[in-house]
Amino acid sequence: MSAPISEAFTALYGRAPDGVWAAPGRVNLIGEHTDYNDGFVMPFALPHTTVAAVSRRTDGLLRLHSADASADGTAGTEGVVELRVDALAPGTDPHWTAYPAGVVWALREAGHPVTGADLHLASTVPVGAGLSSSAALEVVVALALNDLYALDLPRWKLARLCQRAENVYVGAPTGIMDQTASACCTAGHALFLDTRDLSVRQIPFDLAAEGMRLLVVDTRVRHAHSDGEYGKRRAGCEKGAALLGVDALRDVPYDGLDTALAGLGDEDEVRRLVRHIVTENQRVERVAALLEAGRTREIGPLLTEGHASLRDDFRISCPELDTAVDSALAAGALGARMTGGGFGGSAIVLAETGDVETITKAVAAAFAAAGHTPPRTFEAVPSAGAARLA
Ligand code: GLA
Repeated sequence: MSAPISEAFTALYGRAPDGVWAAPGRVNLIGEHTDYNDGFVMPFALPHTTVAAVSRRTDGLLRLHSADASADGTAGTEGVVELRVDALAPGTDPHWTAYPAGVVWALREAGHPVTGADLHLASTVPVGAGLSSSAALEVVVALALNDLYALDLPRWKLARLCQRAENVYVGAPTGIMDQTASACCTAGHALFLDTRDLSVRQIPFDLAAEGMRLLVVDTRVRHAHSDGEYGKRRAGCEKGAALLGVDALRDVPYDGLDTALAGLGDEDEVRRLVRHIVTENQRVERVAALLEAGRTREIGPLLTEGHASLRDDFRISCPELDTAVDSALAAGALGARMTGGGFGGSAIVLAETGDVETITKAVAAAFAAAGHTPPRTFEAVPSAGAARLA
């Protein structure tokens, strides 16, 4: 991909780029909405990436161009967007350009002397599908600028700056999982991340070698995290932590869950949120232990349990996600769940290799019977994190 994108950059800006970088989208295997509760998550990187051809500038201009019709489902991207780095201000840009501009803003806010850049971007990460197209966009820009400006920032720090760009500049109150996944995943592994201290474990995850596959079912129901529901869940979790007198719901132990829930009085909604977070953290630890013990097939029921918890306790599923999960399980899947923020996006399905075709057809048939838009199903292979390509 680096040759065509370099040529496109040269055609746009009249000179060759200084380099080309790529950053992937992700799926989350298990650990949903735990990342803003100091908890555990276990994403892996997709082969789908956002690629950026970039050159430094020293005159304070940031010029942005995207090859995609709409990198975030909003603005058209006919021309080059030109911004001044010293005029970047949070909350002022409703278009896709807020993501790369937000990264430049966050780097400068943190004291890094970024004096401008020309960027041309192209992405194969489906937008709004719960597969972290925004994190891929942020991380590719952060990595490119880190290299071009010799900032020497570690990957976890780049992820933090990208999260700040998304939280403050774009205005979406997301956690740290997606940016860390895009920046830190490695091929053939799932990333066990403790979001409290950002420590990671690369867990070998080679399903094909064990006769299994992981499918992504993109329901094509599009969602956004800058809307209210994500923020409401986050606020509810924070209320739960405050009522229980802990820093974060991560601090409620699984074996103390019943006592904690009883202590929440008539706060039924908070009780459901707390139960999801505490049981979900435990599911991540159990999945990690099973994978590390080579008992991969046994993670299936935990994925399915996670879906029930997100549907019934956290209440962020939707009919299309439930159809994907239920029809895949009925057709013989080992486990299935929604992945990502919820309210649309994608489900994942763990299946024996020999059952993939049957399951894919069964899911498509169930969508048709329910009158849903046909889903897009593809296999997800754990792929590399962000890297320089040229
Ligand atoms: C979105 C957010 C993440 C995380 C997930 C839910 O992808 O960006 O930080 O909270 O939702 O697990």
